[in-house]
Amino acid sequence: MTGLYVHIPFCAVKCFYCDFAAYSGQKKQVARYLAALEAEAALSPALAPETVYIGGGTPSELDDARCAELFLRLRRAYPSARPIETTFEGNPDSLDERKLAVLAREGVTRLSVGLQTADDALLKAIGRRHTAADFARVFSAAKVEGIAERSVDLMYGLPGQTLESLAATLEFALALEPEHVSLYGLQVEDRTLFSKRGVEADEDSGREMYELAIAALARAGLEHYEISNWARPGRRSRHNLNYWRRGEYLGLGASAASFLSGTRSSNEERLSPYLESVESGRRPTAESETPAGLEALGEEALLGLRLIDGFTPSPALREAFAGPWAVLKARGLTREDGPLWRLTPEGVFTANEAFREFVPPFAFEEAHRA
Ligand SMILES: C[S@@+](CC[C@H](N)C(=O)[O-])C[C@H]1O[C@@H](n2cnc3c(N)ncnc32)[C@H](O)[C@@H]1O
Ligand code: SF4
Repeated sequence: MTGLYVHIPFCAVKCFYCDFAAYSGQKKQVARYLAALEAEAALSPALAPETVYIGGGTPSELDDARCAELFLRLRRAYPSARPIETTFEGNPDSLDERKLAVLAREGVTRLSVGLQTADDALLKAIGRRHTAADFARVFSAAKVEGIAERSVDLMYGLPGQTLESLAATLEFALALEPEHVSLYGLQVEDRTLFSKRGVEADEDSGREMYELAIAALARAGLEHYEISNWARPGRRSRHNLNYWRRGEYLGLGASAASFLSGTRSSNEERLSPYLESVESGRRPTAESETPAGLEALGEEALLGLRLIDGFTPSPALREAFAGPWAVLKARGLTREDGPLWRLTPEGVFTANEAFREFVPPFAFEEAHRA
C-alpha cells in the first residue's frame, strides 16, 4: 500500500505546546506554497496513492478557493490516483459549512478536527482560539455536508487538567459520536512556550488519565487499536495503519517525511529553504537514511508494537532480539499471541519502557562490546 502525506504548515496562531512545522503570520506565502507542492510532486517518484492525508499545521486555514486549488493540483500531479481514504485536518475556528461542502465535493472522506479539551478556560490556557461549542458545531456539520468519517484529537496531561476535566471532555466528545478518536499525552517539546515556561508533564497523573480514557472509550464501543488511537469497527485510519505496518509513503511539503524503497527521508522544515529548494528544481530533502541490520529490525518492532493487536515479527527480528524480548516478557510488558508479538495491558501504559529495547544503542550490543 502507498500513502501520500501533504503538509500544510500554516496556523492562525501557534499553540503553546506545539513543535510541529506550523507557522503563523505566513498567509502571504500560501499561493507560492501550493504551487511548490505540485512542483515537488513532479520532482518526486511517480506513484498512485491509495490513501491521502492532508495534515499540518492547519490545512483548514486555506480559504475555500485555496482548498479547491490544492485538490486540483493534487489531481494534476496524480492523475491515476483513486484513493480509498482522503483525510483533511482542521481546527474549529477555520471550518464552516461552506468549507466542509467544498472539502466533501473535492473527495475528502475523513475529517480530523482538534478539540484537545472541552474545558474552555483550559483551551485558552494552551493557546487555542476556539471553544468546545465551536468544535461541536463543526463536527456535526461535517456529517451533514457528507464527510462520513470524523476524528477528534484530544490531549491529556495538560497543565491544570484534572481527571474530572478529562472525563468531561471524553463525555462531550463521545456525545458527538465520532468514528475515530486520537488521544495524545502532552509532550513538552523544546522550542515551545510551555518549555520556556518550565511546564513539566506529570507522569503519575498522566497514567491515571490514560487509564480513565481507555475505560471510557471502550464503554462507548470504540476499539483501542494503536497506543494513541481508537475507532469504531471498520473506521481505523488506513493511512496511519500503513505507517505502523511499514508501508511506503511519500510526503510533500515542509517537514514532510517519506518512506520509499527502504529509505526514510524528511524535508526542510522551514518555509524559505523548502520553497527555494523546490523553486530551483531540487527536491527539498533535509535528511535521509536507509536503516539496515539491527536498526531496521528495531524499527519493525517499534512500529508494530504500537498496534494494540500486535504484529507478526520477521524471522530476523525474532532471532536478533530474542534476548531483549525474553526480558520484556518476563517483566510482564509484552507477550506472544500465536505468531504475534504484542504489548500487555501494563506494557501499553508503559510503552516507552518496552520501546527502549529497540532503539540504538542496543543493550545487548553494548554488553557485547564491554
Ligand atoms: C499537529 S496538530 C495538527 C492538526 C490541527 N492543527 C490541530 O491543532 O488539531 C495534530 C495534533 O497533535 C497533537 N499535538 C500537537 N503537539 C502536541 C504535543 N506537544 N504533545 C501532545 N500532542 C500534541 C494535538 O492533539 C493536535 O491536535
Ligand atoms: S496544535 Fe495544530 S493549530 Fe496548534 S500550532 Fe500545532 S498545528 Fe497549529
